[in-house]
This record gives sequence, C-alpha cells and structure tokens, in this order.
Amino acid sequence: MAQNMRTLVASGYAAGHYATTYARTMSTPEPFEQVLCDELLSRLHSKASILDLGCGVGLPYDAYFSKKGGVVTGIDLSEKHIVHARKNVAGATFLVGDFFSKEIKGTFDAIVSFYALFHIPRTEHTKLFAHMHSLLKKNGLILITLGVDSMKLSVNKDFAGAPMAWSSYAAEKNKKLVQAAGFEILIAAEDYRTERHLWLLAKKK
Ligand SMILES: C[S@@+](CC[C@H](N)C(=O)[O-])C[C@H]1O[C@@H](n2cnc3c(N)ncnc32)[C@H](O)[C@@H]1O
Repeated sequence: MAQNMRTLVASGYAAGHYATTYARTMSTPEPFEQVLCDELLSRLHSKASILDLGCGVGLPYDAYFSKKGGVVTGIDLSEKHIVHARKNVAGATFLVGDFFSKEIKGTFDAIVSFYALFHIPRTEHTKLFAHMHSLLKKNGLILITLGVDSMKLSVNKDFAGAPMAWSSYAAEKNKKLVQAAGFEILIAAEDYRTERHLWLLAKKK
C-alpha cells in the first residue's frame, strides 16, 4: 500500500491543478498559523536553518520564514511545485524529493511541515518522526500539522482535478507517537477553521 499511495499522491499532484486551486499566493500565513510560526521563530536564533518537508510552492510559509531571517530548505516530491517555489522564494533552497530523500544534507535548527505528512501511510509516521529527530540539531524544534481523525486510507477521486490520498492516526495517538520519537510537545493546537488539523510545536529532547 505504501508504494501505491506514494504513486497516487505523486501522480495526483503532477496531473492536478493544486497550485492554482489551493496553493496560496500571500507571503504571510493566516493569523492562526502566524501565531504558531511566530512561536517557532521566537525560540530560534536569527538565521536559523529551517527544513520544510512537503513545502509545496513555498507560499506563504517559506517566504515568511525567509523574510524573518531563516535559512530555508524546502523539499517536495512535486517538481511542478518546486518550480513555483524557486520563483516565489528566491532566497531559499528547494529540492525535488521525498520526505526521506538522501538529498537532505546536514542537520537543522527546525523542521516544519504543513498539510503534507498525511500523504504517506500512517504506518510510516513513526519512522518519519524518528527521521525528523535525526535531522535536527540539539534542542531542535518541529512545527508540523497532522490529522485529527483516524483514517487508514482516504482517497478523493477529484482533489484539484486528480485523485489524492491521505492517511492519519487520531490526534491523541499522533501526540504519543511524536513524544515516543523523542520530542517534548510545547504547544498542541487543533485548528477548526475549515478542515481539522493538529498543529504541534515540539522540541527534540
Ligand atoms: C497540501 S500540499 C501542502 C503544501 C505546503 N506545505 C502548504 O501548506 O502550502 C502537500 C504537499 O506535500 C507534497 N508531498 C506529498 N507527499 C510527499 C512526500 N512523500 N515527500 C515530499 N513531499 C510530499 C506534495 O507534493 C504537496 O506539495
């Protein structure tokens, strides 16, 4: 199922028109998101290195972190999105690849990931949190969104014009998995604006 889901997600973003339907064009996150991005930034030194997993077109988050002095590296499996990201955020580095790509070199002060981690099977989430832990410097931080409902696999046949898939554990289990991977949760907030998402700000122990 893991490979099937990856193929479906990759081909969905390649064939669909996510970038023009959903991706945002502003360089400032929405107020709820900005509070959490600012919480992250307030705990980092200026010029902190920030890795964005599933960065999409780089807007608004990578543009915002870059503007605030962050040295941003974004990675996304969609080449199409990375083409936009490189135009949208000139000061950042963008790579085409999977969350686990070997192209991600070195360690980071922070890792962010918004609305992306639920695109791999939930059975891989433990491995992914461990991977994030290994990519962080001492006391490194993560700011990520996860799902709030348990869904082994959810497929939408028409997400921005193409099939798309999601997979998630429920919020409480997600928090436990992040803690078990060696993180201390600093802030957990559930976002009910349009869709439901769990936002976690956590620190590497
Ligand atoms: C809903 S979009 C969110 C993009 C961006 N983070 C944002 O919030 O605007 C999800 C992104 O995750 C990327 N993605 C999905 N699975 C991925 C994977 N296994 N590795 C890297 N990127 C992935 C997709 O290509 C897509 O750009």
